[in-house]
Amino acid sequence: MRMYDIITKKRDGKALTPEEITFFIEGYTNGDIPDYQASALCMAIFFQDMNDEERANLTMEMVKSGDTIDLSAIEGIKVDKHSTGGVGDTTTLILGPLVASLDVPVAKMSGRGLGHTGGTIDKLEAVPGFHVEIDKSEFIELVNKNKVSVIGQTGNLTPADKKLYGLRDVTATVNSIPLIASSIMSKKIAAGADAIVLDVKTGAGAFMKTFEDSKALAEAMVAIGNRVGRNTMAVISDMSQPLGRAIGNALEVQEAIDTLKGHGPEDLTELCLTLGSQMVVLAGKADSLDEAREKLQENMNNGKALEKFATFLQSQGGDSRVVEDPSVMEEATYKVELEAKESGYVEEIVADELGTAAMMLGAGRATKESVIDLAVGLYLNKKVGDYVEAGESLLTIHANQEDIEDVKQKLYENITISSNKVDAPTLVHDMVT
Ligand code: URA
Ligand code: CA
Repeated sequence: MRMYDIITKKRDGKALTPEEITFFIEGYTNGDIPDYQASALCMAIFFQDMNDEERANLTMEMVKSGDTIDLSAIEGIKVDKHSTGGVGDTTTLILGPLVASLDVPVAKMSGRGLGHTGGTIDKLEAVPGFHVEIDKSEFIELVNKNKVSVIGQTGNLTPADKKLYGLRDVTATVNSIPLIASSIMSKKIAAGADAIVLDVKTGAGAFMKTFEDSKALAEAMVAIGNRVGRNTMAVISDMSQPLGRAIGNALEVQEAIDTLKGHGPEDLTELCLTLGSQMVVLAGKADSLDEAREKLQENMNNGKALEKFATFLQSQGGDSRVVEDPSVMEEATYKVELEAKESGYVEEIVADELGTAAMMLGAGRATKESVIDLAVGLYLNKKVGDYVEAGESLLTIHANQEDIEDVKQKLYENITISSNKVDAPTLVHDMVT
């Protein structure tokens, strides 16, 4: 078999056989196939696409390129929730303990944030003492005992994807549905999920800016998952404005606690109940979405979800007093109100730009090496559709630096106020099963 012929075949719009995909991924991972041939193939895939069978084969070859996590020692159906990334997306912090409180096992491998989106591990580390450096046997023990644990990236998962993603990044081939879908799904499958709930974001703060692109990505990932024996569904949710009110690590932990107590922001609560119900049904802990939602709401109201969060934090070294007393976390020195310059309805809060503003305060990483400040961030007092009086606070800036003129300017540029009434955006745009 020759890589030249595989490139030619895809260039001419033909489907690749399983053997050809195996030849490509194995050869590229071990260095036999050079970058220039791999990039030519990626460009051919970009223009000619792949059918469902090719996409599934590509995904499973990337899974096979490295280690996989064996979660079979954990009782029950392991459902993973994956978000394609957003601003102020606090859902994982809430969903872990929330569904675990219904005995759904949550064995979560998480990462750190980069750019305008935050990472789950960074957020959890805002709780003093909390750490994810546990070994695999402890991880499995904790999930069996408490039903929830979070571990940092371990092992050499999907090296083919790492190498290919780096190549796509510099050859203008990131934005291809079959390549994105196989990249994301390979990581989820290698991490051991039996079933997968995808939260595909759409809008300014999302990887996919338009609904059509988000839907195509969701359909591609669901098709791959179901084809390779992992029950998969997707929710397409709004990321035109930040989710909830808090953006920033300690602020999002506080928001998660509020939500677990049943008084979180409306949009964040609704999205957690939507995703959570799907997880509970896939795990076989409820017969219908309505029953699942009712049970989740019950555990928010009776304190069981919060208690589960405290147990989870404590079992990984965290100071669980945080659930009643947020002051155990670091607080920013300056709290500055961003006052509305005019009266009217909030028309737009551009999600990715607000994420960048939070990053400028130190809440996120500009590069992989950046050190982040867990205390700083933004708290939205108004959301799209709300009425605001001139002089009233649009949001509160939590900063550890005195000079924040550049941040304020960015915020003013990206929050628009209209004299006409504005509707809040639709939160859940669609579902794909
Ligand atoms: N995120 C991924 O993990 N892979 C892609 O290809 C794009 C976004
Ligand atoms: Ca939030």
